[in-house]
Amino acid sequence: MLWTAFLFLLFFTDEVCPEKNCSYQDVLSFLKLTKKNELFSMTRPVQNYKHPTYVSLEVLLYAILDVVEKEQKFIPYVWTVMRWHNEYIYWDPNHFCGIDNVSLPADTLWKPDLTIEEMTEKDKAPPSPYLTINNKGYVEVQDDMVLVSTCRMHIYQFPFDIQKCNLTFKSIIHTAKDIRLLASDNSSEATEWSREVMRTQYEWLFLNMGVTTINATDSVSQDFIVYTITMKRRSILYIVNFLLPVLFFLCLDLASFMVSDSGGEKLSFQVTVLLAVTVLQLILNEILPASSNKIPLIAVYCIGVFALMLLSLLETILVMYLMEKDSVSKDSSSDRKESSSEEFNKHVIFHNHHRDMNKWNQCGCIHDGSTGETPSELLPVAKETSHSPLSAESHDFEKELTKMLSLLLDSRTKEEKHGYWTRMAQKINTVFFIFYITTISMFFVFMYYKWNTEG
Ligand SMILES: *[C@@H]1O[C@H](CO)[C@@H](O)[C@H](O)[C@H]1NC(C)=O
Ligand SMILES: *[C@@H]1O[C@H](CO)[C@@H](O)[C@H](O)[C@H]1NC(C)=O
Ligand SMILES: *[C@@H]1O[C@H](CO)[C@@H](O)[C@H](O)[C@H]1NC(C)=O
Ligand SMILES: *[C@@H]1O[C@H](CO)[C@@H](O)[C@H](O)[C@H]1NC(C)=O
Ligand SMILES: *[C@@H]1O[C@H](CO)[C@@H](O)[C@H](O)[C@H]1NC(C)=O
Repeated sequence: MLWTAFLFLLFFTDEVCPEKNCSYQDVLSFLKLTKKNELFSMTRPVQNYKHPTYVSLEVLLYAILDVVEKEQKFIPYVWTVMRWHNEYIYWDPNHFCGIDNVSLPADTLWKPDLTIEEMTEKDKAPPSPYLTINNKGYVEVQDDMVLVSTCRMHIYQFPFDIQKCNLTFKSIIHTAKDIRLLASDNSSEATEWSREVMRTQYEWLFLNMGVTTINATDSVSQDFIVYTITMKRRSILYIVNFLLPVLFFLCLDLASFMVSDSGGEKLSFQVTVLLAVTVLQLILNEILPASSNKIPLIAVYCIGVFALMLLSLLETILVMYLMEKDSVSKDSSSDRKESSSEEFNKHVIFHNHHRDMNKWNQCGCIHDGSTGETPSELLPVAKETSHSPLSAESHDFEKELTKMLSLLLDSRTKEEKHGYWTRMAQKINTVFFIFYITTISMFFVFMYYKWNTEG
C-alpha cells in the first residue's frame, strides 16, 4: 500500500511538473523563434535603431590553394568566425536544464552583410548551414570558404618574390552608423593560429597575416578590416628548371670557344644553344603577367643571356668571314706555292738523278772501256748497279733527305697558311673571349645584386 502510494506520488509529481524545460524546442518556443517568425530574420536586431551592431570578426588561413600571377589571382582557403549581439535573444539557462546555446538554421536570423572587396567569384561551396546562439544573445557564424580574390602581384623579383595580398572585409550597404567592425585577433595571434591550422602550402610559404582595422571617420563611411597575407615563393624549382638551364646553355656557349672556327660546326652549335634559350623564354612568357610596369628581373636575366650568346654568335660569324677571306686569298697563293714546292721536289729528284747519273758515269767508266756501249743503253745497267748493296746505302740516305726536305717544306707552307686575316681573327677571338668572360661576370654580379636588394 505504501509502495503504491509512493509510486503514485512519483508518477504524479512527474505529471504535474512538466516544465522541466530540457529540450532546445523549449528554448525556441520561449523565444518565439520559429522559421515563420520573420521578425528575427528581416531587420537588424536592435531595440533602438541608434545602437550600432558590433560585429567581431576572426579570420584564419587554412591553405594557400593557388596564386596565378598571370591573372593576378589569389585563391586562399579561409575560415571566418563572425560574432554579433542580437538584442531580442536572452534566456536563463537555469530555467532550461542549463542549456546555454542552441544551433539554428542559418537563415532564421538576421546576419551582417559582410563581403570581401577583393573577391571576384562567389564561393561555390554552400555556406555553413547553421549558426549558434547563446543565452546572452550572442550569435556566431562559422564558415570556411575558397576565396577567389584578385591581388596585385609584384613579379619584379620573380622567382625570389614575396607577395602581399589583402582581404578587405566590409559591409555591403551598412555604414558605421549601423555596423561597426571589430577584429577579434591581432596580427600576432592571427599569424600564430593560421600557422597552427595551415594544411597545405606547396608553392607558397605562409609568412604572416596582418590585421588592420580602419575605423570610419564619420557615420556615413564604413569600417574595414584588412587582413594582409604575406607569403614567400619557394623558388628552388624555378632555379632548377629555369635559371640553371639558361646558365648551362651559357656555359655551353662558352665551351664553344674551344671548337675550331673553320668549318660551320661552331656556328651551328651556337645557333642551337641560342634556340634552346628561346624555348625557355617562351615558357617564361606563360608564367609572367603582361601587365608589369617594370621589366621583371628574370626577363632581364633571360634577355641578357640571350644577348650575350647573340654577341658570341656574331663574333663567330665575323671570325669565319675573316678566315674565309684569308682562305680565298690563300687559295691562289698556295696554288703557286704548291707548284713551286713541287718544282723544288722535282728539282731535288732531278738532282738526285743527276748525281746517280754521275755515280753511274763513274761506274760506267769502268764498264765503258770493256763494253763501249752508249750511256743511254747503259741506263738500265746503272739502275741495276744501284741495286748493288754498296750504292744502295747512299741512295737510301738521299731518299731520307728528300723526304725530310719535303716535310720541311710542307710544314713551312702550313705555317704560311695562317695569313694576315686568320691571325687577325685569332686575335679577335682571344680579345673577345676575355671581354665575354668579363661581361658575363659583371652581368651575373649585377643580377645577383638586383635580386637581393629591393626585397
Ligand atoms: C520552463 O519554461 C517556462 C517558460 O517557457 C518557465 O516559466 C518555467 O519556469 C520553466 N520551468 C523550469 C522548471 O525551469
Ligand atoms: C553549447 O552547449 C553545450 C552543452 O550545453 C556545451 O557543451 C558547449 O560547449 C556549448 N558551446 C558553446 C560555444 O558555448
Ligand atoms: C593592403 O592593405 C594595406 C592596409 O590597408 C594597404 O596599405 C596596402 O596598400 C594594401 N595593399 C594592396 C595590394 O591593396
Ligand atoms: C595580441 O594579443 C595578445 C593577447 O590578446 C597579446 O598578448 C599580444 O601582446 C598582442 N599583440 C600585439 C602585437 O598587439
Ligand atoms: C577602432 O575602434 C575600435 C573600437 O571601436 C578600437 O578598439 C580600435 O583601436 C580602433 N582602431 C583604430 C585604428 O583606430
